[in-house]
Amino acid sequence: MNEQAPVITIDGPAGAGKGTIACMLAEKLGWRMLDSGAIYRVAALAALRRHLDLQDEDALAAIIPSLHIEFRDGEAWLDGAVVTSEIRNETCASATSKIAAFPAVRTVLLELQRSFQQLPGLVADGRDMGTVVFPRANHKFFLTASAEIRAERRLKQLSEQGLSAKLCDLIQDINARDERDANRPVAPLKPAEDAVLIDTSYLDQNEVFAAVLHHIV
Ligand code: C5P
Repeated sequence: MNEQAPVITIDGPAGAGKGTIACMLAEKLGWRMLDSGAIYRVAALAALRRHLDLQDEDALAAIIPSLHIEFRDGEAWLDGAVVTSEIRNETCASATSKIAAFPAVRTVLLELQRSFQQLPGLVADGRDMGTVVFPRANHKFFLTASAEIRAERRLKQLSEQGLSAKLCDLIQDINARDERDANRPVAPLKPAEDAVLIDTSYLDQNEVFAAVLHHIV
């Protein structure tokens, strides 16, 4: 971690478009990017593979320090193997929001997330980047969109990958995940007081990106 390195945080619920905007911004600025959701997802995958009880906070927090989680060559790695697509399935997504609710799990993952703060700068994408992980970030954004629109975006993403799903199931999954993320006692999904809120429901990527750039330049 280098506290001199500037940080821009982009938080919000699943499907609000954070990831795409964070990538576009990191590329434009030539900064590193932290996809904190991917860190939580890799930890959840490790728990699923070990058949851990997803309610057992201590057991979950205990395995995390022994995991080798890396992001390189555009892939997510767990203990030396690529897990990029496996961490994106709905089973892993649902397990992720369960384990992410535990304070002990969040605490052991804090240091790893903060280690991404390096020069020339960092764009951090997640749920609590602006509130907990980088409270002194230079700029903070919170992206939202209606659950229906976020589910439609997910359906489109799945069909592009040749996968099928029912829109009503996706809306239900998204609502359940939002509910867990927003109501957990630690680091709940909520905008930082000094975050700029952007509703992306009726904006395309370029319009959202322009709105973000407008605030930072
Ligand atoms: O962003 P993504 O959808 O990949 O995140 C997966 C899950 O990880 C979220 O639903 C949330 O439960 C958890 N998460 C979190 N804090 C973050 C990023 C993700 O709790 N900063």
